[in-house]
Amino acid sequence: MNAETKIRNDLGAYWMPFTANRQFKDNPRMIASAEGMYYTTTDGRQVMDGTAGLWCVNAGHRAPRITEAVQRQVEELDYAPAFQMGHPKAFELASRLAELAPGKLNHVFFTNSGSESVETALKIALAYHKAKGEPGRTRLIGREKGYHGVNFGGISVGGMVNNRRAFGTLLGGVDHLPHTHDIARNGFTKGQPEHGAELADDLERLVALHGGETIAAVIVEPMAGSAGVILPPKGYLQKLREITRKHGILLIFDEVITAYGRLGRAFGADYYGVEPDMITTAKGLTNGVIAMGAVLASEDIHDAFMTGPDHMIELFHGYTYSGNPVACAAALAALDTYREEELFERAASLEDYWADALFSLRDKPGVIDIRAVGLVGAVELEPFADTPTKRAFDTYLRAWDKGVHLRTTGDTIAMSPPLIIEKSEIDQLVGTLGEALDA
Ligand SMILES: Cc1ncc(COP(=O)(O)O)c(C=O)c1O
Repeated sequence: MNAETKIRNDLGAYWMPFTANRQFKDNPRMIASAEGMYYTTTDGRQVMDGTAGLWCVNAGHRAPRITEAVQRQVEELDYAPAFQMGHPKAFELASRLAELAPGKLNHVFFTNSGSESVETALKIALAYHKAKGEPGRTRLIGREKGYHGVNFGGISVGGMVNNRRAFGTLLGGVDHLPHTHDIARNGFTKGQPEHGAELADDLERLVALHGGETIAAVIVEPMAGSAGVILPPKGYLQKLREITRKHGILLIFDEVITAYGRLGRAFGADYYGVEPDMITTAKGLTNGVIAMGAVLASEDIHDAFMTGPDHMIELFHGYTYSGNPVACAAALAALDTYREEELFERAASLEDYWADALFSLRDKPGVIDIRAVGLVGAVELEPFADTPTKRAFDTYLRAWDKGVHLRTTGDTIAMSPPLIIEKSEIDQLVGTLGEALDA
């Protein structure tokens, strides 16, 4: 094989993540560039980004401040060691996030992804209880249909079977709350579902089963995105907060999707009016430009570690790229963009228009539920009996051919456009999905 053949791009070498590799490579969908709300494909077509990348490009593609900040930062300081060393932008970014975060969530631990944020929060929860003199609190509680990334902690507390079943016994000492997906009682509800707050009481059952003093933390997404946009019933998150507090259990909100404006507020915690003990974030933190995540932790959690001799490392955890200077520059510029362009407020002002547009699809063929919150939406389809997931994926492919990129999970079509979307573009997105459903 000569050098030329070796570098020939035949698509085979790249093992694509969460992708039907063989199907994709038979008919690739390749993106060459992007700007604002649109991708341009390698064959020159414009395709609207109906999902903000993977729920991350909240300010739209190639937001100028972020591009410039990254370019400047690479010229100035490309990398600085993260352990026993610092650089000013990491401290500035942590301060900005602490200011943005609800209540007492005043401390920030940097990671490189949502999955790493989840692992970090779970480890902090365990180590916190140990530091406070309760080393017996080792149990972690997740929720059915939860998605917390793909690392071992995250898939253990997660509740999506395909993400778990091939990977052995996972972490021990994990249990799950029931999910809140209930079309029979809550189908086609605009806003928060009426029914299901009582599902949070299942935590009392787990406390009675395991002993509350063995449970370290409960982790949930305030709005479960990846399992198909499942909203918390009215009062549900408040109940979880009450029960966790009553039993000394930490409450972690996994806001990898909901943080940074997706629901029209800085965090889902703000939207739902519930303050957890930790929030995990990533995605919109840098507008998707550079891989970065952040865990926001309460004063109480942080301070529990700041004991013992000064020269000792307090938490044996961290990543080579924690607080990477280029990522910090991107995140600072993303936060500036969100603020200066008032994108969170913009998402809030579009929430009703967005929901009304989506609900116009309720009589389309196969639609069994529609859900919307902030600038997130889902259209759930009746699965074909013998080929589950195919109906949604076929619909997705038809929309792609018509110039709109959506996302599917199971037989649900999920949408989460950049927060810069115009009303006319909402009409275009929903109109195209309607045509794809009709076809
Ligand atoms: C709630 C939640 N947690 C964690 C993750 C994992 O993030 P990443 O893919 O950056 O590891 C995701 C990704 O979609 C997510 O939605």
